Amino acid sequence: MSTLVVVGSQWGDEGKGKITDLLSEEVDIVVRYQGGCNAGHTVVKGDQQFIFHLIPSGILHPGKKCLIGNGVVIDPESLLREIEDLRKKGIEIDGNLFIDSKAHVVLPYHKTLDEIKEEKRGKNKLGTTKRGIGPAYIDKIARTGIRIADLIDKKTLSEKLKINLEEKNEIFEKLYSIKTSKQEQKDLIKRYQEYGQLLKKYVIDVSLLVNQAIEEDKKILFEGAQGTLLDIDHGTFPYVTSSNPVAGGACIGAGVGPTKIDKVLGITKAYTTRVGSGPFPTEIEGKLGKYLRQKGGEFGATTGRPRRCGWFDAVVASYAVRINGMDSMVLTKIDVLSDLDKIKICTSYQCNGKLIKEFPVNLKTFKNCNPVYEEVEGWKSDISQITRYEDLPPKLKAYISRIEELVRTKVVIVSVGPKRSQTIIREKIFK
Ligand code: GDP
Ligand code: IMO
Ligand code: MG
Repeated sequence: MSTLVVVGSQWGDEGKGKITDLLSEEVDIVVRYQGGCNAGHTVVKGDQQFIFHLIPSGILHPGKKCLIGNGVVIDPESLLREIEDLRKKGIEIDGNLFIDSKAHVVLPYHKTLDEIKEEKRGKNKLGTTKRGIGPAYIDKIARTGIRIADLIDKKTLSEKLKINLEEKNEIFEKLYSIKTSKQEQKDLIKRYQEYGQLLKKYVIDVSLLVNQAIEEDKKILFEGAQGTLLDIDHGTFPYVTSSNPVAGGACIGAGVGPTKIDKVLGITKAYTTRVGSGPFPTEIEGKLGKYLRQKGGEFGATTGRPRRCGWFDAVVASYAVRINGMDSMVLTKIDVLSDLDKIKICTSYQCNGKLIKEFPVNLKTFKNCNPVYEEVEGWKSDISQITRYEDLPPKLKAYISRIEELVRTKVVIVSVGPKRSQTIIREKIFK
């Protein structure tokens, strides 16, 4: 096995960063294939915490190539800041980080549009990260977007940006009464030309490098951002992000054919969280929800917003198994449930008088779904230092077995804390 897609099984923040960092030890290349700096992937190394937004979570391993694929939308300011912060911490970037020339660029007007549109939606707001992700993908699909190849070519950037600014400023002026002076526009072009020159040395053809590496039998990990239920096609539309986090997105977003993907690993939280708006059947309100948020440190790694917390939802997880063609799972944050007397698992939904086990594609139906729970007893002991599966309390093993049974997928890794060492490997991923 040499190629693996790591994908979020729920609404993001499942611990993809931790697991990607852990598995990076065994791979040659890590590739981000979609999303942008809306992602916040946390890695704890020793007593240092790193939060990656655009740079793949393998970068802490010296000599591993970290690639940003064509499917990602890159905010040059955010990327340069991330590079600088890592450099200050002694992390080697040059020679390890590469970005694809076909990736699209997030510009200041995308961020402004993201903010304005959210404001206008009022009570129907999506709760975006306001990083300009949606508007940048809109321009990509509209074929007006600016790619990294344009950004690093001063003349092309100036020509394309002038046209785009004219169009965007007309929208800003007419619809939102925001005026931008000619000087501000000139400054912006100059600033982005400078960013282009700073990023030039990282620019390559990611698809070519990845496919050559596959031929040489190198090991490659494709790191998804967000999660299955935030997918633009398969998620809880419109409360989704604007890209394809699902495993299939790795093919599009890194320029790799489907026949070249060997395995899909779903990162699955032992309970469920969601940031931003949208239906969430197993959400826990009140004291217990607050308790999980505190205990699990459930605050957005990008925006700091409190995450909504709820019970494990087997309907959602089974759907993620299907949509991603998931081979196996990592169960994360199980330690967060350790003090609870009783733990609930949602096994199906009661919806409009019917019992359903398949995730409903219609949002209206999903909104009307009430979870049907099964209750298991808590294990009530600190498991955060356990390193062997056999040593886990029987009640915890029963919880994992029940999840495996419900979603019909094996849990191959159990994560019992944010550190690398707080991981129980039941089955090796790269054999
Ligand atoms: P990602 O976006 O999927 O990479 O996840 P985030 O980094 O946004 O959120 C996961 C959070 O949980 C981070 O703060 C991690 O350090 C932390 N974390 C990861 N795995 C575990 C675990 O098994 N137990 C606990 N308690 N925390 C974990
Ligand atoms: P990682 O990779 C959790 C959510 C936002 C919002 C919706 C749309 O860390 O798991 P966007 O800014 O993408 O247009 O917002 O998607 N969202 C995430 N939620 N984890 C993420 O990334 C997310 N990235 C976006 O909260 O509901
Ligand atoms: Mg996150």
